[in-house]
Amino acid sequence: MNIAIGCDHGGFDLKKALIPILEQAGHSVVDLGCFAEESVDYPDFADRVCAAIGERRCQRGILICGTGIGMSIAANRHRHVRAALCHESFTARMGREHNDANVLCLGARVLGTALAQEIVKVWLAAEFAGGRHLRRIEMMG
Ligand code: RB5
Repeated sequence: MNIAIGCDHGGFDLKKALIPILEQAGHSVVDLGCFAEESVDYPDFADRVCAAIGERRCQRGILICGTGIGMSIAANRHRHVRAALCHESFTARMGREHNDANVLCLGARVLGTALAQEIVKVWLAAEFAGGRHLRRIEMMG
């Protein structure tokens, strides 16, 4: 699938470590920045990734900042986005199965690289369960 990825300066190194994992798994990665370590504002990059999903250029998005919190707040302001901030694999799986999360937010200052890669793999492999969970998502518009 096409996956949009974005970060701020706090997530720059982790983004670089995740892109090869995504590509090795056969996904097409659309890197929407940032592209250097200079300080930037995370809402700009959340907006880029959410726009790529809204325009159907990408099916999923991954956003990385220092904690993942700013990215998740910014992403969830977009009505078509269900962003899940995950620090471990269980919530990553449940975020897909129960919440149909189309954006994964990660905190680069919270996670080690190996754990972040594992979370991404679990999140990409898990499927939305539908049923009562679809009704709940529809209740949010
Ligand atoms: C940047 O210093 C930091 O505030 C940002 O990466 C993120 O953690 C905000 O939620």
